[in-house]
Amino acid sequence: MPTSDIKILALESSCDETSAAIVDNGKVLNNIIATQSVHGNYGGVVPELASRAHQQNIVPVVDEALKNAAIDKSSLSAIAFTRGPGLLGALLVGTSFAKSMALALNIPLIEVNHMQAHILAHFIDDPKPEFPFLCLTVSGGHTQIVLVKSYLEMEIVGETRDDAVGEAFDKSAKLLGLNYPGGPLIDKYAQLGDPSRFKLPQTEMPGLEYSFSGIKTGILYFLRDELKKNEKFIDENLNDICASIQHTLVEMLLQKLRKAARQFEIKNIALAGGVSANSGLRNGLNIMAEKENWKVYVPAFEYCTDNAAMIGMAAHYKYLAGEFTSQEVSALPRMKF
Ligand code: KG4
Ligand code: ZN
Repeated sequence: MPTSDIKILALESSCDETSAAIVDNGKVLNNIIATQSVHGNYGGVVPELASRAHQQNIVPVVDEALKNAAIDKSSLSAIAFTRGPGLLGALLVGTSFAKSMALALNIPLIEVNHMQAHILAHFIDDPKPEFPFLCLTVSGGHTQIVLVKSYLEMEIVGETRDDAVGEAFDKSAKLLGLNYPGGPLIDKYAQLGDPSRFKLPQTEMPGLEYSFSGIKTGILYFLRDELKKNEKFIDENLNDICASIQHTLVEMLLQKLRKAARQFEIKNIALAGGVSANSGLRNGLNIMAEKENWKVYVPAFEYCTDNAAMIGMAAHYKYLAGEFTSQEVSALPRMKF
């Protein structure tokens, strides 16, 4: 394969964003994203609706990515796609589209692991982290501490046993009557509230493991008890409740991250995934970084949430390493590293 002019069309369809991007020699030319608003009323992503929306959106986003980059499909070097982890019906749309397009153009196909791609989003813009680094990947589906040794060599050293932290944000928000996704709304109200007002129970876990399902139940009981005493409790205390929830979740994330950094003696620390947009997490991380003498890396917001640019970036390194995928490939909802 020629390695001088690598033009990759990348697709992302693992959850509720349909996205296409063109990555030219490791440089992101664009990142087209169609966000699915259809899930807002349901309190979470509805897999069947996500799949249908991907089918409607995939042709227009690919078309726009090619047009926007002024690239004809005949000059593409490879097609990349998210193979997993994610929702099966959603992944199938990107996977089948990528396979058909690669077959029609007679160019290589590159499968990408969505979680690895979140980490490689750090190589889109400067400053880029130096290897080895630790990445705290926090999204609606995952909470992982990853030891990143090189572009394609990564090891999960800590993980959640149950819910992801994004899920904990979204489910807590739902208990407060906020729309999905509730994470950004908790963040917004938290900025006006007192984080020490309510003490919420944290779940103690061994080693570098996380557990977030207990806190959701804790919040459920806490709200039930308070609402019995005052039915306007949520309305009257929304900012303080949000600040307390956010403070608790951020504390849990950062304590294990510090433990991992000390254990592996690593001072390059990165954040990835949708929850890295959270202002409390960013502030908390910066304070901890100063104390621990860390160098901290956070991608631009556009590359924190689900996007195809990160898939294209991962595919670029896989192309250089000669890691291609056969037409036999199928989507893998529980894909591991
Ligand atoms: O990475 P992502 O876009 O999709 C997944 O792969 O899951 O992450 C989405 C998650 C949702 O749970 C959303 O509520 C959360 O990221 N999120 C936030 C914030 N922005 C997005 N959570 C807390 N604070 C935010 N500012
Ligand atoms: Zn994601």
